Amino acid sequence: MSGAPLAGKVAIVTGGAAGIGFALAEGLAQRGAAVLIADLKGAEAAAAKLAAAGHEAAGVTADVASEAATMAMAESAEARFGGLDILVNNAGIYATLTPQPFEALDIAEWRRVLEVNVIGTFLCCRAALPTMQRRGGGRIVTISSGVAFKGNPYMAHYVASKGAVVSLTRAMATELGKHGVTVNSVAPGFTLSDGVLKNPGLIEGVKEPSLRGRVLARDMLPADLVGAVCFFAGPDAAFITGQTLVVDGGAYFH
Ligand SMILES: NC(=O)c1ccc[n+]([C@@H]2O[C@H](COP(=O)([O-])OP(=O)(O)OC[C@H]3O[C@@H](n4cnc5c(N)ncnc54)[C@H](O)[C@@H]3O)[C@@H](O)[C@H]2O)c1
Repeated sequence: MSGAPLAGKVAIVTGGAAGIGFALAEGLAQRGAAVLIADLKGAEAAAAKLAAAGHEAAGVTADVASEAATMAMAESAEARFGGLDILVNNAGIYATLTPQPFEALDIAEWRRVLEVNVIGTFLCCRAALPTMQRRGGGRIVTISSGVAFKGNPYMAHYVASKGAVVSLTRAMATELGKHGVTVNSVAPGFTLSDGVLKNPGLIEGVKEPSLRGRVLARDMLPADLVGAVCFFAGPDAAFITGQTLVVDGGAYFH
């Protein structure tokens, strides 16, 4: 795609095989980036969909909570596309969770949520940094959540994990600026992703209250997040770092 804002750039989208991640991978590809989709499952099939639409894309199976897998993921971007410029840390545990009172939350589930959402973000950033440094800089976008600001009930572990993602974004921004790497976060509101649509507890308990709580009173879809993520990943955001942009139809004013 000539004249595309991300032409010549290489992007990784974690959790990019489905849901919000696939919409982000498609949006980056449509703006000219070569995209490596990294996911626990379905990465190659999702990349094949992008390739069939004429984009440069590849898939790699990876668990973001595994140090070895995140290193292999960054190496794949280098081997397949010659480097890495953009990392979108989208993989996260949310849509499979069952809302529960704080005192009923399972400790093993707590640990896995923190492991994937927080430590997974850290591991992916650490794996990406050397290749971004070799390219003279890069863009990291984390996916936090509006819940970090609102403190929603019945998912205390998830809310805590997304608060940590906002803080980690700021901490990494302070350290990575000297490498020419910006680090920003997009905080979505309740989004009808593939995973959410399969979770009756979320659809029954969260969909209507979320819609009523928005200034723009309609359902939020994965496509609603593409502009914000591609902005942080692109040339217009070159002097912006450490920021979190809430994209939720005007539910929370950050
Ligand atoms: N859907 C929402 O309402 C909402 C709101 C705010 C933030 N978010 C965040 O957006 C991100 C995507 O959520 P979604 O609703 O699209 O979910 P989803 O379940 O539709 O898709 C998540 C994808 O991530 C993959 N994944 C999960 N764990 C992984 C791991 N350890 N390593 C690699 N890949 C993994 C899954 O296989 C899946 O393809 C998550 O970080 C979530 O917390 C979602």
